Amino acid sequence: MRQEAEEVKKINGELQRLIDDMAETMYAAPGIGLAANQVGVLQRLIILDVAYRDGAKDLKVILNPCIKAGEGEVVREEGCLSVADFAAEVRRHARVTVTGVDREGKPIEITGEGLLAVVLQHEIDHLNGVLFIDHVSRLKRNLYLRRLKKKLAAKGR
Ligand code: CO
Repeated sequence: MRQEAEEVKKINGELQRLIDDMAETMYAAPGIGLAANQVGVLQRLIILDVAYRDGAKDLKVILNPCIKAGEGEVVREEGCLSVADFAAEVRRHARVTVTGVDREGKPIEITGEGLLAVVLQHEIDHLNGVLFIDHVSRLKRNLYLRRLKKKLAAKGR
């Protein structure tokens, strides 16, 4: 989870299966975004679907995503499938433009604001080994880590 993912170089059947598996995992969670390293694959690949919350489906797949531009500021509560039972407010760009390629290898550019902007930044962070808790205050992070330790200790018994 803390390792940096590597550039996707080959778009093949294996990658397509990975994308489908990730989508299944994300929708089942349910979540609105997932990065490949969250399922143990160190490739620069993210998927997201911010429409799913409203009952629609609009899956976006971005290989080798890169934040080309970011502006403004927004504070939103975030959670993560890889950080159990914890949510915290995170400050991010309010609007970002992300470039990359889609699952067919076609260049894409997505400009998003609000929730879409937040999810894009959150998932791209994952590819760099960064979790949203890295953006919250040390106080809150320690609180979370303490709680996690307690939970793990309880499980170990
Ligand atoms: Co996450």
